[in-house]
Order: sequence, then C-alpha cells, then structure tokens
Amino acid sequence: MTTIPSITLNDGLTLPAIGFGTYRLNGASGVNTILSAIDTGYRLLDSAFNYENEGAVGEAVRRSSVPREQLLVTSKLPGRHHTYKEALATIQESLFRAGLDYYDLYLIHWPNPSKDLYVEAWQALIDAKRWGLIRSIGVCNFLPEHLERIIKETGVTPSVDQVELHPYFNQEKQRAWDREHGIVTESWSPLARANQLLKDATIKKIADAHNKSIPQIILRWHFQLGALPLPKSSSPKRQLDNLSVFDFSLTDAEMQTIAGLSRPDGRTFDQDPAKYEEF
Ligand SMILES: NC(=O)c1ccc[n+]([C@@H]2O[C@H](COP(=O)([O-])OP(=O)(O)OC[C@H]3O[C@@H](n4cnc5c(N)ncnc54)[C@H](OP(=O)(O)O)[C@@H]3O)[C@@H](O)[C@H]2O)c1
Repeated sequence: MTTIPSITLNDGLTLPAIGFGTYRLNGASGVNTILSAIDTGYRLLDSAFNYENEGAVGEAVRRSSVPREQLLVTSKLPGRHHTYKEALATIQESLFRAGLDYYDLYLIHWPNPSKDLYVEAWQALIDAKRWGLIRSIGVCNFLPEHLERIIKETGVTPSVDQVELHPYFNQEKQRAWDREHGIVTESWSPLARANQLLKDATIKKIADAHNKSIPQIILRWHFQLGALPLPKSSSPKRQLDNLSVFDFSLTDAEMQTIAGLSRPDGRTFDQDPAKYEEF
C-alpha cells in the first residue's frame, strides 16, 4: 500500500485523504472489523451517536497498537438533541460511550430545518471545542442556506461538511460552495452503499483500462475531486482494496466521463436535507 496523502482543515487539523465508515459495525464483531481497518492502515474513523457503536470504536482504539494520537475519531450529534444544553450533554455522553477524552472531529448529523435548532447545536459544538472536548467541528448534510446561517450567526465556519456523494450524485454545486468557503467535503456512501453503481458499465471500462476494480476507480475519483471518502467494508480484503488508490491517476477525460453519470435524482435513499430529517 502506498502512503495516504493528507488534507488540512481550515482550523489546522490534518486528516488522511480517506477514512473508514463504521455504520452497522456493532458489538464484538464490529470491534474486530474496525481493528482490521486500523491494521490495514485507516487512521480516520467515522461513527455517530445514532450508529450505537461509539463504544465499539472506542474499544478498537484502545485495543489497537496504533497510539491514540495517530488516530482521528469522528462522531455526530443526533437530531433529537439540538438544544444547546442537550447538545453539550450528548457530546459528553458520546465521549463516555467511547471511553475517550476527546473526539478529533464532531459533526451535527442532520440540520433538521423544520425544528430550527441547528444554530444552537452549532454553538454547543463551538463551546465544546473551546473546552477541549473536540479538536475540530463540522456538519453533515448541510446545504448552503444552513451553512450561511451558522457562519453568519456565530462567526465560525465548519471544517467539514459530510454529504452523500458518489458518481450517481456528485454534488457539484455543494462541493464548489464548500471549496469557496474553505470547508472540506467528506463523502458518505462513497460507493453508494454498493448499489448498481458497483456494476456500472462505464466505470468498468475505466477500471479495466487501469487494471483496477470499480470501487478503486470510484474512490480515486473522490480523491481527485478533492472530496474525502469514507468507505465502509467488513472484509479485510476489500478494506485494503479501498485504501489502495494512491498509485494511479484518472485522466481529465475519465474524470469527465464519470461526471457525466451524475443525475439530479441520483440520491440512493431520497434523503434531501431540505426535507428529510433524522432524529
Ligand atoms: N453523515 C451521514 O448522514 C451518513 C449517512 C450514511 C453513511 N455515513 C457514513 O459513511 C460511511 C460509508 O457509507 P455507507 O456505509 O452507507 O456505504 P458505502 O461505504 O458506500 O458502501 C458500503 C457497502 O459497500 C460494500 N463494499 C465496500 N467496499 C467494497 C468493495 N471494494 N467491493 C465491493 N463491495 C464493497 C460493503 O460491503 P462489505 O462490508 O461486505 O464489504 C457495504 O455493503 C458509513 O459507514 C458512515 O460512517 C454517514
């Protein structure tokens, strides 16, 4: 495996250019899968209060031979705890569950605009960072209108916006907005959770030309877009394949061809953050 490049956030924290998704990795088998990912070379771990696996992530961090300070652990604030007081207590509970002293990155999981409490939640993350509970703070699923509002009302720009992003939904506008404002875009479901994308004939052709797999072409595409993908895999072999994307490049023409696969209705689960809410 080649070295993983790094990406520096607007607050100076450095992340590896690819991370490991942990949704549905729970219990003892989840711990083993996360340990395998760390052994394979992943250093950035993505979890959430609502995945009910902060404990499994924390256990893997403790059991791993890789020192805590070399790992970057992420969790997320659930939508039901957006009031300032509840958000702070939930960040503390996230730490208790993981058995960690701090998170490297903590994100608001969904804006839930109809509840209109995400500015309060953001203020709680700002304060938790100030008190040393979190090193870097960001959001997920925030549209430009939500981002504009928290920046205007608090003066603090998130370091990261984690959004659904894959070749069938390439988030061109959101990525441009994030870039202009110094926000790193992370890609959730970077492989579209293994739907028909992994059989796409256009990507297969590109994969054959490079002697790589379809997932490797997709993950390389994320990297060249400047987005940070968080693929999840329970298989050590696929974990390694997904990490092995830094020894080749896609041409501009290949990047353009993949851009042509995106469609307005390309979201995998129809979760438009302007309407879809999660608690
Ligand atoms: N912020 C949010 O709202 C949000 C929402 C969704 C997800 N996320 C985060 O993003 C992470 C990734 O998204 P995701 O888990 O939804 O989907 P994903 O990473 O796009 O896809 C995971 C699926 O792809 C399969 N897979 C992985 N690598 C493969 C390979 N090389 N070849 C063939 N199949 C492969 C996995 O199967 P195996 O496990 O069997 O390999 C699994 O079924 C999550 O785990 C979570 O941390 C965040």
